[in-house]
Amino acid sequence: MSELILLKLGGSVITDKTRPFTARIDVIQRLAQEIKSALAERGDDLRLIIGHGSGSFGHEVAAKYQTHKGGTSAESWLGFAEVAHAAATLNHLVVNALREVGVPAMRFQPSASTRTRGEQLMYFETFPLKEALSHGLVPVVYGDVSVDAAQGMSIVSTELLFDNLARELSPSRIVLAGQVDGVYEADPNLKPNAELISDIDRNNWEEVAAMLGGSHGTDVTGGMFTKVRDMYRLTIAMPPMQAMIMSAEEPGHLEAVLKGQMVSFGTLIN
Ligand code: IPE
Repeated sequence: MSELILLKLGGSVITDKTRPFTARIDVIQRLAQEIKSALAERGDDLRLIIGHGSGSFGHEVAAKYQTHKGGTSAESWLGFAEVAHAAATLNHLVVNALREVGVPAMRFQPSASTRTRGEQLMYFETFPLKEALSHGLVPVVYGDVSVDAAQGMSIVSTELLFDNLARELSPSRIVLAGQVDGVYEADPNLKPNAELISDIDRNNWEEVAAMLGGSHGTDVTGGMFTKVRDMYRLTIAMPPMQAMIMSAEEPGHLEAVLKGQMVSFGTLIN
């Protein structure tokens, strides 16, 4: 049976977060090439579902309309369409880059197939995606807007889509490729000496959770804490699945991970 990997390209790595609506096209093209190389080497042995974040595309507009908080104003539904458009604009760039190097990528628009309830994904129509995957295509999903049973509308992150897909498809790995090298003991922006945690498992989870969720928590570690906690819970629920948090900034790193090579970077959660 071939290996299935769910790969997220973080919004922080594929866009310039300091500039609205700015994609890092060179990075997207390089990552597409790395994905292509891994698929070419492994052939039928590797199946991939790719997801990507929204970075300075969707987040900007979502903040303007407060989409994650629901239908709060007369403008909210206009905002729903605006955020969806921003997210889809970046998605076109990613899918184009993948297709240009020969990856048989096909987008599945989450806002057309999901329903959330607050933080939870109540419904996700995955049948067409699974059918495409089983025929050798590489489905691509992305952080998007979603209709929401409790508040009218919400945002569905790539991680939430992956959580659902993982429970349905039992992948062997989830790879979250972003701009940070992995999980640090403390926010490296505040503590330059903070050390990278290479493994998170049952043995050190309590300790790691205390470090990340402690009073030193900032937005950066806070965001990372939720991500790590959700991935940890998922790996506990879905053994022997592993999750890896890594940086895709260094050329070749993503390719090595997808090829299944032993690597000495990133944080492995299992
Ligand atoms: C965010 O998706 C989606 C929108 C704001 C529309 P993600 O949570 O998957 O994206 P990043 O990695 O934070 O950009």
